[in-house]
Amino acid sequence: MTSLNPKKEICDNSENLENSLISPDGYSKKDFNPPLRLAVMASGNGSNFEAIVNAIINKKLKASVIALIVNNPNCKAKERAERLNIKCIVHDHRDYPKRTDFDKVLVDTLKFIKVEGIVMAGWMRIVTSTLINAFPGRIINIHPSILPSFKGTDAISQALNSKVCITGCTVHFVSESVDSGPIIYQAALPIYKEDDKKSLTIRLQELEHDILPKAISIAGEIWRE
Ligand code: GRF
Repeated sequence: MTSLNPKKEICDNSENLENSLISPDGYSKKDFNPPLRLAVMASGNGSNFEAIVNAIINKKLKASVIALIVNNPNCKAKERAERLNIKCIVHDHRDYPKRTDFDKVLVDTLKFIKVEGIVMAGWMRIVTSTLINAFPGRIINIHPSILPSFKGTDAISQALNSKVCITGCTVHFVSESVDSGPIIYQAALPIYKEDDKKSLTIRLQELEHDILPKAISIAGEIWRE
């Protein structure tokens, strides 16, 4: 799998940027024609899902969200999909005794709708090799820390508790170890003395909404290679 660090390229070498397929705003210079076919997977709020759809509507990202897949029938992400007129498929993980059984159903669905890339945007389930190996290099995830720092659950509290003064978010390819695959895009922000979990989460999510469509655009370059 190709690993790419656009941020490094953008910061380090303006000459390379001239020849790069990534434009200065972080989006791909390629005209994805036809648009990238994406599935988004979410478990809860779904604000990152909506950010992807908005980037598409605003013509920043040439893609189409074929379906949102959720594992919680009552999640807010599903309501967003209804409002945005995007097909929402519900697979409740509680209906499957084993993680691999659940992932097999996801694989069948994702193959059926023929997507080029899968975006885990707040997917709160650990995925198994059943899913990962069915779509090698084609699943990406967003995580609210500068990986490899603060992997796993509640990364925002981990950063606050550890008293670091900078945190951020990362979009990476999904591998079998949690929050560990090759990094596509990262962005940082300061933690202020007065920050609590709520204020930091709000600022981090704004940053996530900015970088996730850019990272999809970059991953799209690789998927279309
Ligand atoms: C985001 O902070 C993301 O980094 C993490 O889960 C959260 C999902 O937020 N994986 P939302 O559901 O997209 O609002």
